[in-house]
Amino acid sequence: MIHIISDCHLGNTENEAHLIKALMKIGDDCKFLFVMGDIYTSPSIKKYNNFKNILNEYIPNAKVYAIAGNHDDINLMRKSFSGSNILIKEKVSIDGMTYLFIDSSHKPINRLMMLGSGRVSNKDLSKIKKESRKKEVTILIHHPILKVSNSKWFNEIGIENVDDVINKLNKNCVNIICGHGHDFNHNKHSTFQQTMAPSTAYGFDLTLDEFMRTNRTGALILEYKNQKSTFQYVKTY
Ligand SMILES: [Fe+2]
Repeated sequence: MIHIISDCHLGNTENEAHLIKALMKIGDDCKFLFVMGDIYTSPSIKKYNNFKNILNEYIPNAKVYAIAGNHDDINLMRKSFSGSNILIKEKVSIDGMTYLFIDSSHKPINRLMMLGSGRVSNKDLSKIKKESRKKEVTILIHHPILKVSNSKWFNEIGIENVDDVINKLNKNCVNIICGHGHDFNHNKHSTFQQTMAPSTAYGFDLTLDEFMRTNRTGALILEYKNQKSTFQYVKTY
């Protein structure tokens, strides 16, 4: 069993309390935690150290794997988490499934892209192709790959080179797990499924054209059994 949290947007006491509520619900017997990015809205090493301390206090036995979101600074994350039980990895295998960590926190090359959008490097694009050649993989990425909403504002903060990412997917890319959209969303494609983790801090109503927050917060439980991944939405609101 793997727990997944996303978009904690720490930096104020309210969002920190929301994260702690999610961690308490997850429980201190948590073995694996995936953190899907946007840990702090405006990060610093000191702040990432604080995140490390919170996880140590509430889920001390968990092996944590983190990826960066558009708000994060991957270099500060590496510095802060170095030597701790928060790992920033290229991939990991748990219970027979290979999880690929793809960084979409790079700034777009095209300056017309909105703040909040991202880009996947050629190195990560090659990684998807190489790792999925012979075995099934689950891709973990902050921004969704499949369209989750018709909201104009949300679609403007996507992955600049999303078509390149889609071109690298094959039938072995069975799962995509993302965050960024601040709501639980499960999207089925012919060969793979995309699951968007809710935010621990606050939700977005992605059914509306204009930007609107909601109180829908939570975490996900992922279970991989008999070569099938199932997701459970753990609500914290
Ligand atoms: Fe984001």
